[in-house]
Parts: sequence; C-alpha cells; structure tokens
Amino acid sequence: MHKNNTYPTTLIDSFGRKVDYIRLSITDRCDFRCVYCMSEDMTFLPRDEVLSLEECARLVKVFVSLGVSKVRITGGEPLVRKNALQLFEEIGQLQGLRELVLTTNGSQLAHQAFALKQAGVRRINISLDSLDATLFRKITRVGELDKVLCGIAAAKQAGFENIKLNALLMRGINDDEALPLTAFAVEQGLDISFIEEMPLGEVQHSRSESYVSNEDTLKLLRARYDLVSSAETTGGPARYWRIPNSSTKIGFISPHSHNFCESCNRVRITCKGELYLCLGQENKVDLRPLLREFPHDDKPLIQAIVDSMQAKPKGHDFNVKRAAPAVIRFMSHTGG
Ligand code: 5AD
Ligand code: SF4
Repeated sequence: MHKNNTYPTTLIDSFGRKVDYIRLSITDRCDFRCVYCMSEDMTFLPRDEVLSLEECARLVKVFVSLGVSKVRITGGEPLVRKNALQLFEEIGQLQGLRELVLTTNGSQLAHQAFALKQAGVRRINISLDSLDATLFRKITRVGELDKVLCGIAAAKQAGFENIKLNALLMRGINDDEALPLTAFAVEQGLDISFIEEMPLGEVQHSRSESYVSNEDTLKLLRARYDLVSSAETTGGPARYWRIPNSSTKIGFISPHSHNFCESCNRVRITCKGELYLCLGQENKVDLRPLLREFPHDDKPLIQAIVDSMQAKPKGHDFNVKRAAPAVIRFMSHTGG
C-alpha cells in the first residue's frame, strides 16, 4: 500500500517502461471465423464470465486515472457486442484520455461508423486480408467482402483522423494480395499495415508453412513502389514506409523479426478482465474478482494494477518454427 493511500499518476514497470496504453477486448465473439484466428467450431465464453460494459468502463476509468492516455477497444469483434456504442461514448468523455481507438473487422461499420466518430473514436484499424470476395470468404470462413468495403466507405465518410487497414498474409493463401491491397490503400487514401502471423491458438493450417515474413512483403512492394523509410513510431512493433506523392503510410508489424520489447508501453485486458502484461507471455493478474467483490471501492483494483507492473516481463518468446503454439490463447481472447 502506498503512503497516505495515494496512488501514482503514472504506471512504470520494473524495467522503467511507462505503460500509458491499454488494449481492452470487450468480447471474445466475432461474426467472422478467420482461419489464423479461430477454429471453425469455437466455443465462446458464458456471459457471466465476460465483463459487463459497466465493468469495462470502470476499468478504463481507473487506468486513465493512473496515467493511461490511449485506449484501444478490440475483441473478438467489438462492434458485435450489444450496446458497445454506449461504452465508446462513456470512455470518449474521460478527462485525461488522449486517444480512443478501435480495431474492427469492418462488418458493422456501415451503420456504426458515424456514431463511433461522434463518440470520440479518433482512429480505426480495419482488418482486410483480401480484395477478392471468394478468397475473403475462404479466409474469414463466413465474411462478406462487400459489407466490409461498405464499412470502409462509411468510415471514410465519417471523417476519422486516420483509417488503417491491417492485412495478414499467408503463403499460398493470400500472399498475392499484398500489391492489390496496397494499391487499394493508396487509391482510398488509407494507411496499411502488414502483420506477421503469430502462433496464438491452435489452428488448422501449419503456421510455419503459411508464415510470410515482412521482409518478403517489403521486397515485393519495393519492386512496385519507391518506398521511403520513415522514422515514425507509435512505440509499438511497427516500422513505417511512405510512398512519395501519396498520403499512404505502409507499416510492417513484426513480432518475430524485430525486438521491440524495450519500448513496450502497453498492457492488454481480456474480455474476462485478465490483465496480461505481455502478448507473448503468461504473466497476468485477474482483475474481475476485484471488480465484483468491491463494486464501490476502486482501491483494491488500483493496488492490483500498480503492483502488476512488477510482473511485466522484459520481452516475449515467439517462435513460429515450434510445433506447439508458444501461447495457447487465441487473439480473440486477449485482443488483437
Ligand atoms: N497473428 C497475428 N495477428 C492476428 N490477428 C488475429 N489472430 C492473429 C494471429 N494469430 C489479428 C488480425 C486482426 C486483429 C484483430 O488481430 O489480423 O487484424
Ligand atoms: Fe474475428 Fe478478427 Fe479473429 Fe477474424 S481476426 S475471426 S475478424 S477477431
């Protein structure tokens, strides 16, 4: 316990890293079943294991009081959660919050983009792995490309500060899509990031065979575009390039080939209220019991969060070549 019951206004871990960014998954459910993310017959969590929207809002408020200035809402697909918009509206009004951002598959944006912008969402990331409707269906198992394209159009119209496409390439499946996706981003004035597949959760394909390194993708794009390396960074695992005479920024998110852990500024919270201190490690603190046992007293929750900083590991431990996944939980559980 801190002296005089006062708590710090910043979260600093034992390696001196300031944690000012949280990624909160508000549901493990999704209307898609992307092959790299989920198995075909996923069982989702029973409702009472998932934080209520009120609990989510309370958590975010507490983190913001501890100096967190950026919040990303993820899932599963956050926009399939009933009344998700109310949560965005509540978080959007928090004093001290600099950036409220969202990761979505885009399927619900056609009807939600405008209200999300009104609620204070500044930037959005939309996952898009193919521009071919048949291939899009194959990758998402159930998704409709047209809906997502309408969602992207609605997001553009709503006027977000920035819209970024996130593409995950798999060898022999959609690695041919790198150029068309980039051309689409350029034409639409959007940013695009290529994400290397991470060994999260058991899936049906072989991750070591499907793995496409960002180095290969970069090589392919450089044959077509005069890319200029950019020093920009968000403190995360991305490296950026610019295309001259275009507003498009191209990012490469590379958890395997780059060691970005020393600048890590983030923690993740699952939809069950587990605080994971690193995407690639098991260190976690369960915040749900504290939310439920002390509904009107934030102190135990705050203390647990402050203490958790001592458990944030120095770095992750991914290895695609290994047969078993390094971490068995799915991205839809921890939040992308
Ligand atoms: N490796 C990398 N990214 C993943 N995502 C889901 N599963 C994985 C994985 N195994 C990403 C998707 C999407 C975001 C929500 O999470 O590409 O952009
Ligand atoms: Fe849903 Fe995103 Fe996972 Fe695809 S990657 S199944 S859209 S959570």
